[in-house]
Amino acid sequence: MRTVYVNGDYLPENEAKVSVFDRGFLFGDGIYEVASVLGGKLIDFPAHMARLHRSAGELGMRFAVSDDDLLAIHRELVRRNGVEEGVVYLQMTRGATDRDFTFDTEKLTPTLVLFTQSRPLIDTKVARDGMKIVSIPDLRWGRCDIKTVQLLYPSLGKMEAKARGADDAWMVRDGVVTEGTSNNAFIVTKAGAIVTRPLSHSILPGITRATLMQYSRENGTAVEEREFTLEEAKDAAEAFITSASVFVGPVISIDGVELSGGNPGPVTLGLRKTYLEESLKRAL
Ligand code: PDD
Repeated sequence: MRTVYVNGDYLPENEAKVSVFDRGFLFGDGIYEVASVLGGKLIDFPAHMARLHRSAGELGMRFAVSDDDLLAIHRELVRRNGVEEGVVYLQMTRGATDRDFTFDTEKLTPTLVLFTQSRPLIDTKVARDGMKIVSIPDLRWGRCDIKTVQLLYPSLGKMEAKARGADDAWMVRDGVVTEGTSNNAFIVTKAGAIVTRPLSHSILPGITRATLMQYSRENGTAVEEREFTLEEAKDAAEAFITSASVFVGPVISIDGVELSGGNPGPVTLGLRKTYLEESLKRAL
């Protein structure tokens, strides 16, 4: 049975509990991070913790644990659960108190939960065959840059994509693509440049996005940070997504329009290889 971490304790998963009054449960008043594990080591870990601090800061949430302790908890869970490949999920909420729209953060003790999921991340169907994308309107709130647990719309969006015979959805707001339901969206131009929209309140500042852009610049791939429309995406040479659990995921069609002949594109596959090689070197 899996061991999970809850507020200082390592427990069998069926004994791990949080209060029914937890504001994460009642109000979605919680933030999270997902860090991937390859070869038993954490990928891009410092960047994930930096974003967790930012999310807490933006919501005025107390941060009651040190970064050293967070690294130690991640490592201990990976060790206890024997995770070679998979993810560590971390959720922090404002804490538990009787239900009320107002709250006094200083009087609350944040809830901290971590668990692992072992699963293949490198040799996957998405990596081999690519993903079909459909578009949906982006109906999320105005602070998508904060990694909160308010994931109902993205969850329903992915369900809609599956119902429409696709693997995931890209969201569109004001005529341009914002991001995927749980990933950042990229296209590759016919000239070989990679394009992704600039950071704003409309998208999550993806860690994989930032790392991949850095590696791309280092290896001479042109990077254009600008908005793009669905029409431009459908006419692009290639498209892909980035996220901590997929890394670089090839997109083979958008709303039924095939890209790169319906196969993962060469630029995308090259970037995926670079990302994996470089990340493994830096894994903790
Ligand atoms: N999702 N955009 C959204 C809306 C996301 O939920 C995610 C991550 C990303 C990619 O961010 P990163 O590269 O830091 O993983 C972009 C995680 C993996 C999830 O919810 O499971």
